Amino acid sequence: MIKTAVTIMALALSSGPLLAAGKSKEAKEVEFSFEGPFGKFDKAQLQRGFQVYNEVCSSCHAMELMYYRNLGEPGGPGFSEEAVKAIAAEYEVEDGPDNDGEMFFRPARASDHFVKPFPNKQAAMSAMGGAYPVDLSLITKARTGYHGTFKQLSEGVGGPEYVYSVLTGYQDAPADAAEGPDGKYYNPYFVAGPWISMAPPLMDDLIEYADGTPATTSQMAQDVAAFLAWSAEPKAGERKATGLRVMIFLIIFAILLYASYKRLWRNIDH
Ligand code: HEC
Repeated sequence: MIKTAVTIMALALSSGPLLAAGKSKEAKEVEFSFEGPFGKFDKAQLQRGFQVYNEVCSSCHAMELMYYRNLGEPGGPGFSEEAVKAIAAEYEVEDGPDNDGEMFFRPARASDHFVKPFPNKQAAMSAMGGAYPVDLSLITKARTGYHGTFKQLSEGVGGPEYVYSVLTGYQDAPADAAEGPDGKYYNPYFVAGPWISMAPPLMDDLIEYADGTPATTSQMAQDVAAFLAWSAEPKAGERKATGLRVMIFLIIFAILLYASYKRLWRNIDH
């Protein structure tokens, strides 16, 4: 009894930092295929999400932890080797020095990191009028969309929902809101909001999906949120599959154990 109480208290205490979500509005609910104990990433969705990142977000946001080759790995978007090469080759990276001691640019390869839009934070901020477009590699782990311990225990902390909500959460400022700073947009879902420096990056039909899916704002926001959830935890699918196998093994093992116990004690009085 005491032990349970201590465990519950420890849980409550350890979830403290998760509660520090600020005053931003609770994220919208989204049904993602990868959530829940049997959830799996949807390959087609990850491909679309990468397309959104690549064609829209990557002009401002880096994803420094990603390599182009990750895009072809199992459990992810699963692009073919040729497709990965072609995607990388759209970008240039600095290499060298060559035999004359000069640095040079060459097309990126599968083994390169995603090319970042700005060489450093200062350059990014100076281009963005002082705001910083965060690296998106781990954004779904760095942000919580849901408030409250119970909601978080049942739904998870809502990182992908946070991204979705920021992307679709632009609205007219309420009449009683304080005048916003110049060049900022009203978005109550933004963690440091409600004013955000990022102009609404998505609108219907902004891109044309390779698989023909209609590119509504909501569709693009879900797809890119799914892609970012995968990039933050590329092995989540594998881990769940292993967990499931371990559970199945334990159940079979328990049945065998019970059967052999019955058999051993069959002729013995007890
Ligand atoms: C024109 C540049 C630009 C584009 C394009 C852009 N963003 Fe942003 N984004 C920013 C800036 C700048 C900020 C920081 C805003 C602030 O601090 O007020 C930001 C903030 C964000 C945030 C909130 C970060 C946080 O700290 O919680 C998310 C999430 C985000 N962007 C995702 C995206 C996604 C996904 C895309 C592509 C669909 C995208 N952005 C496209 C410039 C951009």
